[in-house]
Amino acid sequence: FSLRSFNTFGIDANASSYLEITSSDDLFQVFNNPELMSQPRLVIGGGSNLLLTDHFSGLVLRMAMKGMNVEREDADAVYVRAAAGEKWHDLVSWTLEQGYGGLENLSWIPGTVGAAPVQNIGAYGSELKDCFHSLKAFDFRGGKVVELSKSDCQFAYRHSIFKTDFKDRFIILDVCFALPKAWKPNVAYAEVDKELAARKMANPTAADISRVIIDIRQRKLPDPAVTGNAGSFFKNPTVEAEKLLELKKDYPAMPSYEQPDGTYRLAAGWLIDQCGWKGKHYGNAGVCETQALVLVNRGNASGKEIAELSEAIKKDVFDTFGIRLEPEPVFV
Ligand code: EPU
Repeated sequence: FSLRSFNTFGIDANASSYLEITSSDDLFQVFNNPELMSQPRLVIGGGSNLLLTDHFSGLVLRMAMKGMNVEREDADAVYVRAAAGEKWHDLVSWTLEQGYGGLENLSWIPGTVGAAPVQNIGAYGSELKDCFHSLKAFDFRGGKVVELSKSDCQFAYRHSIFKTDFKDRFIILDVCFALPKAWKPNVAYAEVDKELAARKMANPTAADISRVIIDIRQRKLPDPAVTGNAGSFFKNPTVEAEKLLELKKDYPAMPSYEQPDGTYRLAAGWLIDQCGWKGKHYGNAGVCETQALVLVNRGNASGKEIAELSEAIKKDVFDTFGIRLEPEPVFV
């Protein structure tokens, strides 16, 4: 079974078996089937955070459950539940159409609702965890549906427990978001603020912010439907204040953002750019011309080529700055 259309890198890899999951009943059936349960499992949503480096000898479960609704409201928030298979941006647009702000800074991110908590998607000063309430997941240990709270999920920068301890155990079925009634615009990100000012939007609505962010993303990030990619390929690394001081001596222009714990986050895209990788080709793989943090499939690239390119970049960044970059996508 070809997975080419199920990963945004557009890599042609096969899986030995494939099932589309349209309800939790489908998962109970998998659970009750010893033949299927004996195989390694790979769960995919939109396949936008995935690097397939080889054929997958196992069972691919593609989450295709649909549905979005307002579940309830209280004095503080409107609670919206969305099924794992909904496209992330469809959820963002739908909530904005209903007049509920909260998710606008996460506009135009590829992928599905079910995949969003796994890496705690983030952009323009906001993260999924900011509006996350809880989720329902199928537990393959015991074959039951459970509800997990925000603290259960252990969200951090581009991270949750679904990347580590819960990796092969739980499958996210749907996610409940708490959208605040006392909505406030989050325009802390300089680029967003600048763009709003240019459009003379002094009191932007959530929909205005969404529009601006869609435009920024469309300008900078390649459309996976046209050029295969998985968004940022590396996480932005953090360094101690001491290391930053040392780096700033040689690179005064290096962007850095202070974190609540006193460490500093650096821009991996800037580091890669400085090493001269922007727009470079590597066989059928390459580095995006407008954003050095994005690796692209220039047509028929294999996952191995992209992995090799990422290794070459990592080595260069380490040799130049002494910083180890960590990939963002999951390698399979
Ligand atoms: N920069 C360069 N050259 C480049 C790319 C970036 O000099 O080729 C510089 C920029 O000028 C800027 C800084 O690096 O000073 C940061 O760049 P940018 O604002 O584009 O953000 P980023 O750190 O590269 C992160 C997220 C994105 C998210 C944006 C906006 C990570 C790994 N990436 O990118 O998330 O959309 O901020 O918030 O944290 C993703 O995860 O797939 C993703 C696209």
